[in-house]
Amino acid sequence: MSRSPIPALAAFTALLALGACKREEAKEDLAPTATGATPYHLALPSNLPPMQSPADNPLTVEGVTLGRFLFYEERLSGNNGMSCASCHAPALAFSDGKPVTKGIDSIAGTRSTMPLINLGYGNFFFWDGRAPSLERQALQPVTNPVEMHDTWPNVVAKLQADPSYPTLFKRAFGTAHIDSMQVAKAIAQFVRTMVSGNSPFDKYMRGEGVLSPDAQMGFAMFNQEGGAPGQLIPVAGSSPVIGQGGADCFHCHTAAAGLFTDEQFHNNGLDTVFTDPGRAAVTNNPADMAKFKTPTLRNIMVTAPYMHDGRFATIDDVLDHYNAGGHPSATVDPFMKFTSPDMQLGLTPQKRQQIKAFLNALTDDEFLSNPAFQDPGPPHL
Ligand code: HEC
Ligand code: HEC
Repeated sequence: MSRSPIPALAAFTALLALGACKREEAKEDLAPTATGATPYHLALPSNLPPMQSPADNPLTVEGVTLGRFLFYEERLSGNNGMSCASCHAPALAFSDGKPVTKGIDSIAGTRSTMPLINLGYGNFFFWDGRAPSLERQALQPVTNPVEMHDTWPNVVAKLQADPSYPTLFKRAFGTAHIDSMQVAKAIAQFVRTMVSGNSPFDKYMRGEGVLSPDAQMGFAMFNQEGGAPGQLIPVAGSSPVIGQGGADCFHCHTAAAGLFTDEQFHNNGLDTVFTDPGRAAVTNNPADMAKFKTPTLRNIMVTAPYMHDGRFATIDDVLDHYNAGGHPSATVDPFMKFTSPDMQLGLTPQKRQQIKAFLNALTDDEFLSNPAFQDPGPPHL
């Protein structure tokens, strides 16, 4: 790792490289599926882990093709004017640039559209994780009154009456008799192909490209404890940590597997009084109050505004929040260690610049303009 001028980063990259050797590109079983559809080989970058599809919904060429038509299908909505892509636009990493969304009835929801990135690795979906699979997730927007606001019998009847869909479903699932679960399965397959792993950061990790010294420094700080070097920093409920002058992001936006999320729910100190219960609405556990799924930071520079309610317009606002430490509350995460007024994360203007240079290096232009993700036009055979 001689290309890294920073010892801490060199050690860290060496660790990651070690992990990467053990990982091979996911090889899928290329035997024909039960429905006769053609297995789809998802090419994964070598620095991302293998991805598993559910046994009852393997990726197939025909399934992904159908899922792409359905993702752009406006007949999935009550007024035939809104598709998944209306809110999830490929150029914005499948987000919509708005603080909160409005559905077909122009009623504003309370949450910000999430980007769709590397979700095939996930186990929980939505900000509160209420959907346990991408299949269960895809069933929800269609009937959600503040989103597409239709009924499944209605949508299925519209698709069944189309000249192409029955054949497209037969090719993907072996039957031309459409049902909502097949719609959800096809969309979930398409969403699993939305893999981002070709950013400048990825190319650097694979030894295919360089990162500016600022971005390298930003990455090193991302993975270091905050607070002044050597300072003893209390962590609620566990032993204190020693400050490293870093940015303290890695606890939750874990970089090790290349996903920049730990797939857990945390309260990152946005509020003292909560308007959205977050995870607690799913578990009914008061200890989960105002906890939300850690979002990935891949392509973060194109997915503003930020947080579950879109409260921060810019990445600088986000860094202001973390630098100030956030607000204390009963459920604030122990790793939000700087909520007390006498503790400081201590991001200087130069450090902020370096963090931003690193976050910029997570923008994957090939992902944002991938032709395979664009609108395929009306369904056709
Ligand atoms: C009106 C805008 C809108 C439409 C239309 C819409 N979504 Fe979303 N999507 C959102 C919002 C807002 C969230 C977060 C909602 C929440 O957490 O309660 C979200 C969350 C998601 C997630 C969870 C991502 C994650 O990281 O957990 C997935 C997957 C998703 N949408 C896919 C779809 C699909 C597939 C469709 C079409 C069937 C669709 N969306 C239609 C706005 C929309
Ligand atoms: C204690 C865990 C934790 C730590 C530490 C943490 N984050 Fe987060 N981060 C989260 C959670 C959880 C959310 C979503 C919170 C919400 O929307 O209510 C989030 C949201 C974000 C978002 C908005 C993402 C989006 O799609 O809207 C950005 C950007 C971000 N964090 C960057 C950082 C940076 C940079 C650091 C280090 C300075 C950091 N985070 C440290 C847990 C954490």
